[in-house]
Amino acid sequence: MDLTLKVWRQNGPQDAGRMETYPVSDVSPDMSFLEMMDMMNDQIIRSGGDPVAFDHDCREGICGMCSMFINGEAHGPNRGTTTCQLHMRSFKDGDTITIEPWRASAFPVVKDLAVDRSSFDRVIQSGGYISVNTSGETLDANAIPVPKGQADDAFSAATCIGCGACVATCKNASAMLFVSAKVSQFALLPQGQPERATRVQRMVEQMDKEGFGNCTNTGACAVECPKGIDLSNIARMNRDYLSASALEE
Ligand code: SF4
Ligand code: FES
Repeated sequence: MDLTLKVWRQNGPQDAGRMETYPVSDVSPDMSFLEMMDMMNDQIIRSGGDPVAFDHDCREGICGMCSMFINGEAHGPNRGTTTCQLHMRSFKDGDTITIEPWRASAFPVVKDLAVDRSSFDRVIQSGGYISVNTSGETLDANAIPVPKGQADDAFSAATCIGCGACVATCKNASAMLFVSAKVSQFALLPQGQPERATRVQRMVEQMDKEGFGNCTNTGACAVECPKGIDLSNIARMNRDYLSASALEE
């Protein structure tokens, strides 16, 4: 396949940025999208240019690093797929493909397609954990019965990989889908109950501090989420937040 890539280039957070065009030839339909990008960078390096910066790590859909807009869609045209799991057979010979970074003020561009998502880390640090007494007399987690349905819902929430597609897709740059998944994975389990009220309050507070927008129930986040995180998590987080605030009064 021969393709034309239009790629966002930006030298740093203060640079205005611009689109650059790169033709790539002999792309195999069996290549992953990132392998095709590696090929493009190889060509750029051989011609003495500066390769395009983009994040990647596991290349198997679990780390959430390979975040980019492909033809205006987070992680590209396929549903339930991260960019690293996208293959070139999803495109046609002669296609022009536009590649851009996440766009949200809470995710400033570091360089080209790489953005700073440490705002997510700070939301997790504010409350996305459970405190466990490791005195040696700790109850084995497996000894605490959890109803199957609840365990399944907690596991589904825990599959969020923190990629940020929900934020980048949302017209308000809301992080509610991400934060609600991280709140729910604990709120649904017995181990998450002692800190349930303070956790949701702290995480929502940090989310607001980071400059993420609010949810207006459009649902675009859930459509573009590669892990199928459900909107019902947002409803759970809102309920928990209201109950926690009522407890304080
Ligand atoms: S909720 Fe989905 S889109 Fe948002 S960070 Fe988690 S996995 Fe990515
Ligand atoms: S590189 Fe890890 S999810 Fe894509």
